[in-house]
Amino acid sequence: KDVVKIGVAGLGTVGAGTVKLLSEHRDILTDRSGRQIVVTAVSSRDRTRDRGFSTEGLIWHEDARDLAADDNVDIVVELIGGSDGIAYDVCKIALEHGKHVVTANKALIALKGLELAQIADQNNVTIAYEAAVAGGIPVVKALREGLAGNAISRVTGILNGTCNYILTTMREQGRDFADVLNEAQKLGYAEADPTFDVDGIDAAHKLAILASLAFGTEVDFDAVAVEGIRSVSALDIQLAEELGYRIKLLGIAKQTAEGIEQRVSPVMVDRATQISKVEGVFNAVALEGDYVGPVILQGRGAGERPTASAVVADIVDIAAGRTAPVFGVPADRLKTNVRAPLEKHVGPYYLR
Ligand code: HSE
Repeated sequence: KDVVKIGVAGLGTVGAGTVKLLSEHRDILTDRSGRQIVVTAVSSRDRTRDRGFSTEGLIWHEDARDLAADDNVDIVVELIGGSDGIAYDVCKIALEHGKHVVTANKALIALKGLELAQIADQNNVTIAYEAAVAGGIPVVKALREGLAGNAISRVTGILNGTCNYILTTMREQGRDFADVLNEAQKLGYAEADPTFDVDGIDAAHKLAILASLAFGTEVDFDAVAVEGIRSVSALDIQLAEELGYRIKLLGIAKQTAEGIEQRVSPVMVDRATQISKVEGVFNAVALEGDYVGPVILQGRGAGERPTASAVVADIVDIAAGRTAPVFGVPADRLKTNVRAPLEKHVGPYYLR
């Protein structure tokens, strides 16, 4: 088959960006995948909104579940969001119909990833989610393919652009959290429920996914100890600076003798480290492999174009026949996660 037919469920910022990218880069994507990638169907509640591209000739589904089962669709791109409801149904229906799925939905993968991976394996298809973790940064592929030869000991990341922007602005302008929050929301990177950003939940979703990929364990969101940035004051940031540290909301997953520790919290990061210099809406992920040593990736973790970049990378992989097990190993080979006991902690965490 020369043509691969794409159905896009959800035409918000990322959905529109994906359709535009597929059209703008049609020729190089054909060269890279060996097939013509064509959007055949879309689904969205609002049919009239101008999204910057023509929807003429596309099959329009009122209900995204119908798109998931549509014979005119080979790959279902789920960009609706949310860990249950329609997004979950769409992915499950598509996989059960033997279709590959591409999603940017971190809550869904963090909470239902194991179940979906099992369904995908049973149907000989995959659910790809490069866009779900750190937006445009290809960290899923880096861990799963690029570092496949390594035992990974640690993953450290700035995984939420909204929080990183808030902390950067608080520092640069000496302003308090509540004052900067509205501004951060206006950037358009915040989750539908912004408490997911500032309370660390969004970062925890992403960290749980990275931990599964890094350690070959069942994704275990409930194991992540989560603290957000609400209690960080402008004064904390200023005093940290005077001591040579920058406060960052970090996700850290590491292998310890007793099990895997997963934590999202504000951390005092030594200003000599590269990760301390990642500012604004940028994300960064530092990986430690036993053969490769330290690897750092940084880039835009959200937004129309960076997230579309990651969605399309997954589409190209699937179109080219490069499918990988969802978490790097078949679902029935994922280990049960052994949680390291979390010590009661007094005072700030440091990263030096
Ligand atoms: N709300 C997220 C962020 C968007 O601010 O980083 C990308 O998942």
